[in-house]
Amino acid sequence: MKKILITGGTGFIGSYLVRELTEKKSVHVRLFLRDTSNLKRLKDIKSKNIEYFKGDFHNFDDINKSLKGIDTFIHLAAILGRGKKDDYQAFNVEVSKKFLNFAIKNKVKKIIYLSTIAVMGGTEQAYIYKEDDDPRPRTLYGKSKWEVEQYITHLVEAFGMNATIIRAPAVYGPEDNFDRGFIRIIDLVARNKYLPVGNLKNLMSLIYIDNLVDAILTVSENQRANGRIYFVADREILTTGETYKIICKNLGVPGSRFCMPKHLILPVERSIELAAKIFKFIPWYPENYISDITSNYACSIKKINAELKWSPKISTQDGLEKTIQWYKSLYMTR
Ligand SMILES: NC(=O)c1ccc[n+]([C@@H]2O[C@H](COP(=O)([O-])OP(=O)(O)OC[C@H]3O[C@@H](n4cnc5c(N)ncnc54)[C@H](OP(=O)(O)O)[C@@H]3O)[C@@H](O)[C@H]2O)c1
Repeated sequence: MKKILITGGTGFIGSYLVRELTEKKSVHVRLFLRDTSNLKRLKDIKSKNIEYFKGDFHNFDDINKSLKGIDTFIHLAAILGRGKKDDYQAFNVEVSKKFLNFAIKNKVKKIIYLSTIAVMGGTEQAYIYKEDDDPRPRTLYGKSKWEVEQYITHLVEAFGMNATIIRAPAVYGPEDNFDRGFIRIIDLVARNKYLPVGNLKNLMSLIYIDNLVDAILTVSENQRANGRIYFVADREILTTGETYKIICKNLGVPGSRFCMPKHLILPVERSIELAAKIFKFIPWYPENYISDITSNYACSIKKINAELKWSPKISTQDGLEKTIQWYKSLYMTR
């Protein structure tokens, strides 16, 4: 039986992955949790092939124990969206490095690190990222994920570690996080509180949750993925305006006829972020938000398609429709 350790199994993405893996008879899943972890997304899982390992993410002994006898380690736990610089460093970077070091010590056969298109930093001009483009992360989150990617590349080269880095764009689907996920935009549009910014012509890759889980499973089962970096995304690369139209259509709302010019709002965001640095507070919106939603964050999936024959099964149109159906069902029962 294949033993898999997952961090971040209680999160939006992790809970889908855990559900999928525990349905396989040949897999035993161990979840690394903290005392405060909320298991609500996992409550319907009845499988016996699941083990809850409570530990301290900063404790060497706990990390070492959790990796004993593990074949595959899938590292998802991270702080994302809003956080302090020190927390990104202490958790996203340092904790990841500890797990990776102990994975080598415990001779884990395969490691999967879920990274993000945020490592690329976005472009002003329309552009589709490929894996050999140079990352230039702009946010603390993107920088922390890029630092771990670099560490993994070093471990692959120095120790022949069998690791794969998967870079995902914004993930959407039912059960997403209302405070920081893509669903926040859908929620604002539904409540007529979303003000589009910029010309809406920038390209933005997205990935539906089922497509992402399918990509992680494909990587986990394929030796050819070892030592590789892959972008994953839905097949379609839409402009933010096209995505906005699909969202409005599915919600049955007309959408805003007015777009806030980027040059009017960007200086406001920059001033808030400067003040946040000086006075050490966390802004109420995700860091670099206006720059991010008006930049191009698109990626090609040709490499994973060519090497692992992976392609997304669900279209963005269908994925958004399912997500909005879920959103509406919540809204109706609130
Ligand atoms: N969502 C996206 O659009 C997206 C896009 C690209 C890449 N990713 C990557 O996907 C991974 C999972 O994202 P997600 O959307 O599923 O996030 P999520 O729903 O916020 O889940 C985060 C997970 O990390 C754990 N975690 C967070 N902070 C922690 C801390 N300080 N100490 C210990 N555990 C902590 C949480 O555990 P608790 O239950 O204990 O809080 C939870 O299981 C991340 O690595 C992220 O970088 C996400």
